[in-house]
Amino acid sequence: MAHPDGQVTASSVAAELADESAPIEVGPSGTHLDEVVVLDYGGQYSQLIARRVRECGVFSELLPHHVGVEEVRKRKPKGLILSGGPASVYADGAPKLEQELLELGIPVLGICYGMQLIAHDLGARVESAATGEYGRSTLTVTEPGRLLAGLPAEQACWMSHRDTVYTAPPGFTALASSTMSPVAALEDVERGIYGIQYHPEVVHTPYGQEVLKTFLGDICGCDLTWSAASIVEEQIARVREQVGDAKVICGLSGGVDSSVAALLVHRAIGDQLTCVFVDHGMMRKDEGAQVVKTFRDTFQVPLVAVDAEERFLAKLKGVSDPETKRKLIGTEFIRVFEEEAAKLAEDGVGAKFLVQGTLYSDVIESGGGTGTSTIKSHHNVGGLPDDIEFALVEPLRALFKDEVRAVGAELGLPERLVWRQPFPGPGLAIRVVGGEATKDRLDLLRDADAILQDEIRGAGLYRELWQSFCVLPDVRTVGVQGDERTYGYVVVIRAVTSDDAMTADWARLPYDLLEQIAARMIGELREVNRVVLDITSKPPGTIEWE
Ligand code: XMP
Repeated sequence: MAHPDGQVTASSVAAELADESAPIEVGPSGTHLDEVVVLDYGGQYSQLIARRVRECGVFSELLPHHVGVEEVRKRKPKGLILSGGPASVYADGAPKLEQELLELGIPVLGICYGMQLIAHDLGARVESAATGEYGRSTLTVTEPGRLLAGLPAEQACWMSHRDTVYTAPPGFTALASSTMSPVAALEDVERGIYGIQYHPEVVHTPYGQEVLKTFLGDICGCDLTWSAASIVEEQIARVREQVGDAKVICGLSGGVDSSVAALLVHRAIGDQLTCVFVDHGMMRKDEGAQVVKTFRDTFQVPLVAVDAEERFLAKLKGVSDPETKRKLIGTEFIRVFEEEAAKLAEDGVGAKFLVQGTLYSDVIESGGGTGTSTIKSHHNVGGLPDDIEFALVEPLRALFKDEVRAVGAELGLPERLVWRQPFPGPGLAIRVVGGEATKDRLDLLRDADAILQDEIRGAGLYRELWQSFCVLPDVRTVGVQGDERTYGYVVVIRAVTSDDAMTADWARLPYDLLEQIAARMIGELREVNRVVLDITSKPPGTIEWE
């Protein structure tokens, strides 16, 4: 899949990510850091397990359960965790446990389905219970053993299972029971095999993190010193080694991922990096200027800022169909980027490498996990050119979003950029809905949005919300202001909470705040005479309106 000379294109990377048999390279392999592998059996919380392990101070990778024992061995992990999953060990086609995984000479912890697999395969009685155990439960520790040492005899825990372990396998000690599970924790210290039926990774299990720490520290013997910030130096060394003295280019969007990636690479190779910021005129108020100021002035990163507003507006003339808008903007973005890359090459040698802010969740989503194996089309909009060839530099490939923010803060990125809410590639164009995104309408939306942001920040709610923004439909309504009839635009307030944008809930903003926002929009923006609130969750709605 790689280009014959070792270079890759965006599409080859996408294909490679989607190929489940391809080795998944993300981690700090080759470094001195301890690593624990989490094998994903399809559980809802598998990613969370990997994150919690990292929060304990141990680097972890989430791999599909079918990667095979060699793939696990390659990483030289100090421990292995088998995640939960939706299957019953008795179901046709249920994921199986490779026995060799228990013979790697490292401790193994099975969680939920992971524990049932271990128990079942090693000869315990595992059966489907008449009643499942879902949600909060009470764990009664009968024999703390190594895994539950030092924890209270009674504690709350979070369960989600129907199959139940009734007896511990030969050689194992049953450590605890719960309301519906005769064996809710077990261990065989000699063989280094441990299991818990409940979910230590969710917040509803108050001692969950303690159990993970015991497993990682006392049982696996890991050094609990890893942190996202600790990888900065390591990534700098890696980038230097990867690019040598070649030129590198980076498309900067102002989002946290591309910003952190760019800064990290700049730290590594200085002026060998040139950032290209394409202002398509669909940004939020003053956002383009902030990006330029931060990177060019504060961090002195060589930056080409292209004011391409007119080009994009010309393309959007007469267009109201959402998909057409997205495609036009995506294509134009690529064109502008290519032109700038070509201009840079005119002065001598062109860039050989392209910086991408790919995150670990993208890696998992694209086939690194057991879930879907297609790249989200979102990621291609306003993304990198598909047909020009660069080798990719992806310094954030091993990190989750919150870890990227920690690295950003470590690198001195301003708080405003570190905590920026996600913003779609096509920008405000997909928030001017039901008609053409003209300059006038975009400007009006930008002003309304600036008021919303100002108020949300003022109320201290910006970080709590996944996203907060305005939508401007092509709708005008009658109003009355100062004894005069008005015919003005409606502004929609959209604010959601979410963990990953896959699902979202509409945010319950305080009434007083909403009143203040509406009053300001109608008072300060002549063309607006009505403000409404979107109270649709996702599903059934999407976060964006187009
Ligand atoms: P929806 O509207 O599908 O959005 O619920 C989910 C998340 O994706 C963001 N989004 C985009 N991000 N390019 C992006 O980089 C895009 O074209 C795009 N469209 C939607 C959206 O803001 C939300 O966070």
